Amino acid sequence: MSYKVGILGVGAIGTLMASLLYPNKKLSLSLYNRSPKQQLSIFNDKKEKKIPIHVETSLPEKRKLDFLCICLKEHQVKNAHTFLAGLIGVETKVIVIRNGIHHKEALLPYTSERNIIEAVIDCPVQPIADGRYEQLNKPVLIINRTAFSELFISLFSPADIKINCILNIKTIAWKKLCESAALGAILCLAGESCWIFKDQRLVNLHKKLLQEGVQVAIADGAEIKEPIFIEAIQKKLVNYPPEKGSSMLSDRKRGAPIELGAKNQVISSLGKQYAIETPIHDLVCMLLEKTNNNPTS
Ligand SMILES: NC(=O)c1ccc[n+]([C@@H]2O[C@H](COP(=O)([O-])OP(=O)(O)OC[C@H]3O[C@@H](n4cnc5c(N)ncnc54)[C@H](OP(=O)(O)O)[C@@H]3O)[C@@H](O)[C@H]2O)c1
Repeated sequence: MSYKVGILGVGAIGTLMASLLYPNKKLSLSLYNRSPKQQLSIFNDKKEKKIPIHVETSLPEKRKLDFLCICLKEHQVKNAHTFLAGLIGVETKVIVIRNGIHHKEALLPYTSERNIIEAVIDCPVQPIADGRYEQLNKPVLIINRTAFSELFISLFSPADIKINCILNIKTIAWKKLCESAALGAILCLAGESCWIFKDQRLVNLHKKLLQEGVQVAIADGAEIKEPIFIEAIQKKLVNYPPEKGSSMLSDRKRGAPIELGAKNQVISSLGKQYAIETPIHDLVCMLLEKTNNNPTS
């Protein structure tokens, strides 16, 4: 049986997913993106993998896909209605790979909850020259277990990607969110990389951001042992190489929209919902909302 698989959003993660699925001759792969792409390729260990597939930028008619892998940023989903309505049929299984939490919500107008796999990915992928990308390590994809997750996993070669299938990705997604929102906020506002954590005041600020995030995460149902988690993340922080940045910092420097809605903003707004005070996240949001990078500004 040949599966029809589509990828929506062919940026860094979409290109990585395309490079992993393209070699599987048992599936037919189609790619959809807002802007045209002249070429698609990704470097891994200095080897270039080319993906010679035309990227479609419009959808004149509905497609019947077996799987749709959505690799959009949180704020991009709302503008992708035509693609989502045209690519998701009643039988289509949808995999949402992105940072943040509550991946399913924006997709419920298009399909039922049981057809959606939420996923988080661990694999830094960055743009290099001419629209090509570089992946920095072997990807680890964490997906929640559904009736079709084993079938989805079977589309990939285990040599190229590690896929962990777990009962509930909420706790993992929250841990990643608390960590990336705390680090990203400080680096993005300072405009500097991790060398600034030589200053103990910023390490203390990072701890306060983590504490706020964890309180909201626990209220939202994540299972996090606060002191152990915070200690582990702070230990990582002080050992980061001085030049390490974050995706929020990179976006700000490139003039691209910052994923605020999937990071500090979701902590702030859920904090309000659960009556948990998040004054530092609120301040971060107030400041970053005013940058030109904010998609809602
Ligand atoms: N990059 C990483 O290292 C990394 C690592 C872990 C997790 N993540 C997460 O993965 C998710 C995707 O990030 P990314 O880095 O792949 O983002 P990205 O490079 O910005 O890619 C997003 C792609 O979606 C396309 N797009 C935007 N709006 C669209 C629309 N309305 N219809 C169709 N296509 C649309 C963009 O097209 P254009 O060409 O027009 O911009 C772009 O190609 C994010 O949640 C991110 O945080 C990323």
